[in-house]
Amino acid sequence: MVATDGRPAPKGESPAFDLSTYLKERCIQVEAALDLSLPLTYPEKIYEAMRYSLLAGGKRLRPILCLATCELVGGTVEMAMPTACALEMIHTMSLIHDDLPAMDNDDYRRGKLTNHKVYGEDIAILAGDGLLAYAFEYIATQTQDVTAGRVLQVIARLGRAVSASGLVGGQVVDLESEGKPDIQEETLTYIHTHKTGALLEACVVCGGILGGATDSEVERLSRYAQNIGLAFQIVDDILDITATQEELGKTAGKDLLAQKATYPSLWGLEASKAKANELVEAAKAELEPFKEKAQPLNAIADFITTRTH
Ligand code: IPE
Ligand code: IPE
Ligand code: MG
Ligand code: MG
Ligand code: MG
Repeated sequence: MVATDGRPAPKGESPAFDLSTYLKERCIQVEAALDLSLPLTYPEKIYEAMRYSLLAGGKRLRPILCLATCELVGGTVEMAMPTACALEMIHTMSLIHDDLPAMDNDDYRRGKLTNHKVYGEDIAILAGDGLLAYAFEYIATQTQDVTAGRVLQVIARLGRAVSASGLVGGQVVDLESEGKPDIQEETLTYIHTHKTGALLEACVVCGGILGGATDSEVERLSRYAQNIGLAFQIVDDILDITATQEELGKTAGKDLLAQKATYPSLWGLEASKAKANELVEAAKAELEPFKEKAQPLNAIADFITTRTH
């Protein structure tokens, strides 16, 4: 926990929590672990392509959520780091594939050319496949000081989150809905909770499981994460309209051009912002029983709606 001015907090008050310092510190830790997780070896071309996107920056929100939740329930950063890295590998796979010409056809990601623009579509598809498979191997072989039963639960939860019942299903309905002006709110919510919410939920739930959360804590943490997951994608849709390419590191304004089903296209910007804020408040309410220990997760929930990239 980081006090903003270094002085002890007055009696009875919790020390101020500085999210920006927290995120920066965690980002450095995660970047170092990611760099070590994937050494360059033969055949170099595929490892280069995987490392190109995995180490291209990004907010590292998914691994940070996993680490924070593990600590919240009494676990350590070390227990969750292999899973945290695996979550970023899976997220990176989803971005490489999402950017392919067959999907969103994007040229920029994380401020750099997209994977297929640099390595070609064939290698970009394989780089995504490589990252997805390695993520599960990495959890199974690198996790330490956690029982095999918990590791198995994490692998099962994560597999489901990425499967056709999760991220893949959400991406399918996202693509099917392109160009259709009459998408219902129910379908849009399905898209967002699956393509984005499922993996974010897995980050929190897996962190909790690794750290030894009880079943009821896992359920509470899962509700927190579902709320921030939906809010996160609503804000992604908003930023596609309101932010610049420089801020986003990816082409802005693409959703409207591609006639994507988004919350702003259904409800307008203001109502979408209000919905995201409402979801963040609902997420934070789930953290109340954890009291002060939930400061990082509380602040991350607020960051979901205040972020500019
Ligand atoms: C982008 O995710 C894709 C979505 C699910 C909206 P992020 O906004 O977390 O991207 P990075 O990891 O910071 O680049
Ligand atoms: C991406 O949604 C969701 C996944 C990558 C699974 P978007 O297509 O809106 O993400 P961006 O805007 O390209 O980052
Ligand atoms: Mg997409
Ligand atoms: Mg996209
Ligand atoms: Mg988007």
